[in-house]
Amino acid sequence: MDALDLLLNRTSEPKLEAPAPQGQALENLFQAAFRVPDHGMLHPYRFVVIEGEGRQKLGEVCLAALLAADPEADDKARDKALHLLERAPMVVAVVSKVQDHPKVPAFEQLVTAGLAAHAMQMAAVAQGFGGIWRTGAYATAPLVREALGVSGEDEILGFLYLGTPVPTKFKVPRPDSSAFVSHF
Ligand SMILES: Cc1cc2nc3c(=O)[nH]c(=O)nc-3n(C[C@H](O)[C@H](O)[C@H](O)COP(=O)(O)O)c2cc1C
Repeated sequence: MDALDLLLNRTSEPKLEAPAPQGQALENLFQAAFRVPDHGMLHPYRFVVIEGEGRQKLGEVCLAALLAADPEADDKARDKALHLLERAPMVVAVVSKVQDHPKVPAFEQLVTAGLAAHAMQMAAVAQGFGGIWRTGAYATAPLVREALGVSGEDEILGFLYLGTPVPTKFKVPRPDSSAFVSHF
């Protein structure tokens, strides 16, 4: 896959099965993240790989978070929370680590951490894998943050679900550029 083909044709893949990237293929995702523009080279992110039984363990935390927010949650919602992370063989939590810096404001560091998440997804696609970036209420739930060691101003920017795409009819229309571009 050449670079332009990747840029013009990448899509998110909501349905994923094993295998997920492992070994050098997984390392390539992190190396792609380390290539994104990063003012001051602050590396304002860290990544938590959730796979195997880790997905069930974090699912139990999601269930606890659901019940903390809504003790009356019905069985369907409880089951969904418990098995949320099992929608892919691997989930990488992308966590921002913004620091006070005299020249690099917080928003620039957040942009860099977001770019890192996207670069990881692109590296997955380039190697024949697929993924989707999800957030949802659990990304900000105190119990989930605590379980993943996220504290203070740090944020879970997303859960990058990764694996091998199972084809779906999920298609996102892409707009014409004229509505978004002006020339000065
Ligand atoms: C910060 C962020 C959070 C997102 N959260 C979710 C989410 O919780 N659930 C979801 O289905 N899509 C979420 N998305 C959107 C998908 O990642 C994806 O972009 C969307 O489904 C469109 O598909 P595409 O990437 O092929 O255009 C999120 C995207 C971003 C950038």
